[in-house]
Amino acid sequence: MTADNTQQVPQHIAIIMDGNGRWAKQRHQPRFMGHRAGVKTVEEIVKHCAESGVGVLTLFAFSSENWKRPTKEVSLLMELFALSLKQQAKRLHKNNIRLLIIGDISKFSASLQKKISQAEQLTENNTGLTINIAANYGGHWDITQSVKKLAEKVKAGELNPDDISEESIAEGLTTAILPEPDLFIRTGGEQRVSNFMLWQLAYTEFYFTDTLWPDFNSEKLDSAIRSFFQRERRFGKTSEQIKDDNDA
Ligand code: IPE
Ligand code: IPE
Ligand code: MG
Repeated sequence: MTADNTQQVPQHIAIIMDGNGRWAKQRHQPRFMGHRAGVKTVEEIVKHCAESGVGVLTLFAFSSENWKRPTKEVSLLMELFALSLKQQAKRLHKNNIRLLIIGDISKFSASLQKKISQAEQLTENNTGLTINIAANYGGHWDITQSVKKLAEKVKAGELNPDDISEESIAEGLTTAILPEPDLFIRTGGEQRVSNFMLWQLAYTEFYFTDTLWPDFNSEKLDSAIRSFFQRERRFGKTSEQIKDDNDA
């Protein structure tokens, strides 16, 4: 995707990759086949974002609510996650891509936790695209764990409750080092946030598509980015103010 001077590629794209199960069902296959096909889409989208100059790509891979799924599906998803990390870590590193995982990984098996920290360490100094995988992630959990850290500081006498600010809550979120998402995409036709980055999406542009995640591809991502270019981000200001700001 090429952008002219007035159109900046979104610096942070956050995606709810939904529709794997329905994709498999359409083909009379088990749901797992949809998840496997979804991994292929992840590879294509990562490559395309890296080539397009996107800074951060956040992918919602497993929500804190997804534990409620049948045990078999959950364990297959964990295996697929571990396998993908193993297969992809070196390739990401070779392509100067940094990998981050956000979410409560303490609930994962010891071996998966180890693979996660190895992949993060391997890629930590890379300066190209950052891929941020949300795994066992929930927006409520993220805000709660940030507030808990502040409460601990108050208890220790290091922080006055009056000094708790939007900034201090944001600094404790798992995404503290990342810019807020510019563009949110949800595939699979549902128009809801499903406890994704609740704090971080405050001013993000939303894009919903009926395309099921395994059918999503670079061209469809470009359509979402084109839609983003049509939006006027006002952040509470008037349209006239935004035009004046742009002319200045
Ligand atoms: C998204 O696809 C992947 C995960 C939640 C892990 P789904 O598995 O939710 O697919 P549908 O929504 O049932 O089609
Ligand atoms: C959201 O999809 C979570 C991920 C894509 C990882 P779900 O399919 O779990 O969302 P709901 O339950 O339909 O809202
Ligand atoms: Mg779903």
